[in-house]
Amino acid sequence: MDLTFIENLISPIYPHFKSAYDSISASDIPIVNSINRHLKSKDGKQIRPMLTLLSALCCGLPDDIPQDHPIFKIAAAIETLHCSTLIHDDVIDESDTRRGIATINSLWNNKTAVLAGDFYLAQVMRTINEVNDQRITHLINLTVIKMCEGELLQLQQTNHLYGDKSTYFQIIQRKTAIFLAACCEAGAIFASADSKTLNDAHTFGLNLGMAFQIRDDILDYYPTAVTGKPQGNDLREHKCTLPLIITLQNAPDDIKKNIMSLLEHDVITDSAVETISAYVNAYGIESAAETLELYIDMAMQSLNNLPDNKFRSALQSLSLKLKEK
Ligand code: IPE
Ligand code: IPE
Ligand code: MG
Ligand code: MG
Repeated sequence: MDLTFIENLISPIYPHFKSAYDSISASDIPIVNSINRHLKSKDGKQIRPMLTLLSALCCGLPDDIPQDHPIFKIAAAIETLHCSTLIHDDVIDESDTRRGIATINSLWNNKTAVLAGDFYLAQVMRTINEVNDQRITHLINLTVIKMCEGELLQLQQTNHLYGDKSTYFQIIQRKTAIFLAACCEAGAIFASADSKTLNDAHTFGLNLGMAFQIRDDILDYYPTAVTGKPQGNDLREHKCTLPLIITLQNAPDDIKKNIMSLLEHDVITDSAVETISAYVNAYGIESAAETLELYIDMAMQSLNNLPDNKFRSALQSLSLKLKEK
């Protein structure tokens, strides 16, 4: 997903975010620097800090604010928090590839990755303490709590298998959507928006976040070359996400039985992934994509309540991008 249009739109302030992000985790310990170098060698989409900056500009923050404005530290903390959760997530999901390069757990080991994730989380806490804005601190604290709840709920479900839609929506709201909602709300807070606007920004982020995770769960059935992440990793981890839940509801009984018996094994082989993926493509992907579109439509509707300007248009374009691969 190419988001350079956002970078171009916010070009006066993007470098301020970038320098805050690049300096947030500096250390004089060689292994920490090696990990930092590895992490920074391949940036992600940076969708979360971009949401904070766009939401702030949309709600009235001027785009000539100085480099020492606290929003840049918070945007940097947000991206660092995201990276910290991904580093831990790759340990949990036993994932060896992210952003097209090796994960920290695969390059070093699980213990190193757990500690590195903790290190980045601690840098986030230090940064939000420095900014010392109670509303922002509260938002970020709540995000971390909800994410942990979501991941724990998901872990428990993976052991039980064959999830249901309502539990799935609870999981993705906590592990992903609440974070995107907080990013948008934080931006509106920096723009000193009124409480209705804060609420609208939050609702937009929440709907976008639901769409974002559903899209990611659909993309898990696409090749590594498209996503930079291992194909079929959710299946291998016995993670029953929306495309599979729908398949298990809609496929004929004999196919359901076949899928269930393949999923019963502790180790899901490449050939089982291939077989189940073919069924999911036939019975689950289209309907999951319809649910994705519903959330995008809801996100677009929430945006209608925000001030009409070029930054809102960028948020609209970003939402529509989630319809693409
Ligand atoms: C990955 O997030 C985790 C999910 C919530 C799906 P991103 O897709 O934003 O990851 P990067 O930072 O761009 O790699
Ligand atoms: C999102 O879920 C992980 C977090 C919210 C930390 P996934 O496990 O699907 O994310 P990817 O696919 O590994 O990026
Ligand atoms: Mg994962
Ligand atoms: Mg995923």
